[in-house]
Amino acid sequence: MKIRVGQGWDTHRIVIGRPLILGGITIPADFGLEGHSDADVLSHAITDAIIGAIAAGDIGMHFPDTDPRWKGAGSLQFLQHAVKLATDAGFTISNVDSTVILEKPKLKDFRLTIRESLAATMGLALDQVSVKFKTAEKVGPVGEGRSAESQAVVCLLSP
Ligand code: C5P
Ligand code: MG
Repeated sequence: MKIRVGQGWDTHRIVIGRPLILGGITIPADFGLEGHSDADVLSHAITDAIIGAIAAGDIGMHFPDTDPRWKGAGSLQFLQHAVKLATDAGFTISNVDSTVILEKPKLKDFRLTIRESLAATMGLALDQVSVKFKTAEKVGPVGEGRSAESQAVVCLLSP
């Protein structure tokens, strides 16, 4: 059996007048994230983790932010594409673990909905998808409420 581990990280600037979308779920907030796509920082980190596990480059290589096709694009389609790349390479996803670092709002009440959305997108069971939340303790750009970050790791298996 082959085992592959992938890691992903992403950050987006906080702006007024855009929705806050995490794992495909719109979170009630008085700000959103800036980006060419829907700026779903969590989906981007998981997508990069999967692409990284199969050494297939990175998210920007597959979905350039200069390509008008991806302007305002829903990031779950990027995630779905990464899963297909992994599947085509002969891998299944064993599990995903992720962290969103955002000072506010509190996200824990949305954990189940976000996990369900990500699991459905990736064709996984709920217990294969973990999403954690942290503040940055008011330190740095995330802590000062200027940006959001996400980190993800994924384990892929091939028989
Ligand atoms: O960052 P801190 O350790 O203070 O976070 C404590 C808990 O608050 C986290 O484990 C998480 O459950 C929750 N949290 C949250 N939404 C955030 C940040 C943290 O629900 N934006
Ligand atoms: Mg991104």
